[in-house]
Amino acid sequence: MKHLFWAGILLAATPAWAQEAADAVAPEGAAETADAGFAAISEEVAAAIEAKEEGTPVEADNWMVAAANPHAVSAGAEVLRAGGTAADAMVAVQTVLGLVEPQSSGLGGGAFLVWYDAATGEVTTLDGRETAPLAATPTLFQDDSGEPLKFYDAVVGGRSIGTPGTPALLEAAHRRWGRAAWPGLFTAAIDLAEDGFAVSPRLAGLIEKDADRLSRWSDTADYFLPGGTPLAVGSTLKNPAYADTLRRLAAEGARGFYSGPVAEAITSAVRGAEGNPGVLSAMDLALYQVKERPAVCVAYRAFEACGMGPPSSGALTVGQILGMLGNYDLAELGADNPDAWRLIGDASRLAFADRGRYMADSDFVPMPTQGLVAQDYLATRATLLSGDDALPAVNAGAPEFDHALLLADDESIELPSTSHISVVDQYGNVLSMTTTIENGFGSRLMAAGFLLNNELTDFSFRSHREGVPIANRLEPGKRPRSSMAPTIVLKDGEPVLAVGSPGGSRIIGYVAKTIIAWADWGMDVQQAVALPHAVNRFGTYDVEAGTSAEDMTQPLTDMGFEVNARDLTSGLHLIEIGDGLKGGADPRREGIALGE
Ligand code: GLY
Repeated sequence: MKHLFWAGILLAATPAWAQEAADAVAPEGAAETADAGFAAISEEVAAAIEAKEEGTPVEADNWMVAAANPHAVSAGAEVLRAGGTAADAMVAVQTVLGLVEPQSSGLGGGAFLVWYDAATGEVTTLDGRETAPLAATPTLFQDDSGEPLKFYDAVVGGRSIGTPGTPALLEAAHRRWGRAAWPGLFTAAIDLAEDGFAVSPRLAGLIEKDADRLSRWSDTADYFLPGGTPLAVGSTLKNPAYADTLRRLAAEGARGFYSGPVAEAITSAVRGAEGNPGVLSAMDLALYQVKERPAVCVAYRAFEACGMGPPSSGALTVGQILGMLGNYDLAELGADNPDAWRLIGDASRLAFADRGRYMADSDFVPMPTQGLVAQDYLATRATLLSGDDALPAVNAGAPEFDHALLLADDESIELPSTSHISVVDQYGNVLSMTTTIENGFGSRLMAAGFLLNNELTDFSFRSHREGVPIANRLEPGKRPRSSMAPTIVLKDGEPVLAVGSPGGSRIIGYVAKTIIAWADWGMDVQQAVALPHAVNRFGTYDVEAGTSAEDMTQPLTDMGFEVNARDLTSGLHLIEIGDGLKGGADPRREGIALGE
């Protein structure tokens, strides 16, 4: 890519406090690519690292797994090699990620899972999102005068913690699609937690950057900063408390998490957080349920991109971007053409305007879900892109909606964290799951060996604007709107690509751009993952610092975009399903793909 462009026009709705928080140092910022001794795990891991460094996909015939850490990918590979399904492998991958990449996802968080079932040809989505406690109110993140709290004042402590969903999701997926015995899926993580693992460069760097916040509670400080010093790269880290929790899950299933000693440890950490306690209760944990939701599928070229609907905005917003761009010939323009990026950037801005107005937990807020991705609506929105310059202003559209509900634009902040897992098993099932504890290190509170999420800060801190309700306002029992976009792309009803990424609300841009790179520009999965990023959400076109994406600065500026070069630390993990399997892992993080 030789060029990139933009028009950075901040929407008037972005208030100063939100901008301040969004500009704050995100602890998930730095790119870390060193192998951290990972190559010693096995020969196949060493080969996968080499393939990634050379920029070539990993190839296989039967099964494949791609995720953010080689220990976790190895655990998943062993399950698949032994005949396990993608759902079985996911349990092993997630439980190891919760140990070796604890800042991004784990038992204390939530996840969305998209599943293609080879036996039925159907795509199913499971919602394991965290849920607002029953005692939470719309003013949870406001001060006494009704003004929003500063972001990290809200995040750090018990207040931001929603009922975790990941343990229930693991069990639900395994019950439905698993073949391997449940207890054995925890062995890799238990062994690693007891024997210890080498702290990776990425984890060590993030601990050092976040040392002040991690020091606030003694359990967290003792784990990440023993003796007051941040864990160093390569130091051996053991977590016997996590091993105990996993043993309980292995023996009792999710019940062993949502009741008994683990549940008591969680509520006591949340409610006892000095200075910023939360309201999560034993009842909230006992009532938690995974929800099956209809997949949101949107046609793009010869393909169909299927993903997670509300409470995620992921599939709808990715689908809107692709649906608008389907009216333009990006293949003809090519990846080096500033006009291709003008179209992508302004299609994204239009989609984000609809996202801010309409998207939230549809169990609480009537949503024009079908209207938002209707082809005629998107074709009409796409006509706005027919000029030569950046759009001077962007507003939410008027999708077909059978509800006369007036909604105001929201003010949610999502900083990048999270992790993505893609798996294909030997039976032809495909899994795409994005998993999170929200901010890097979540709420910074630990219980029973794992970090607790801060997912409630994905709600809008304000509940109303000038008396008009905001769709993503906090309500008891509601799930905060997400940007996570685990996606399975189909062609003629058959899966051809599994894709997803971390990155807060930039996830949407990372996933849309990667599908375009693969579908329109003919890039293989590793090229598509590595392609320098340029993403536009609310007006400012972010181009990836230190890459050829910065060359787009001038052309985009000339078109009227405001352009900002910065780190864009995606964590894309792709598997292409064709004659064989091809896996790609993001060079910006430590992950790999493995297959056989
Ligand atoms: N907390 C990140 C997301 O759900 O989008």
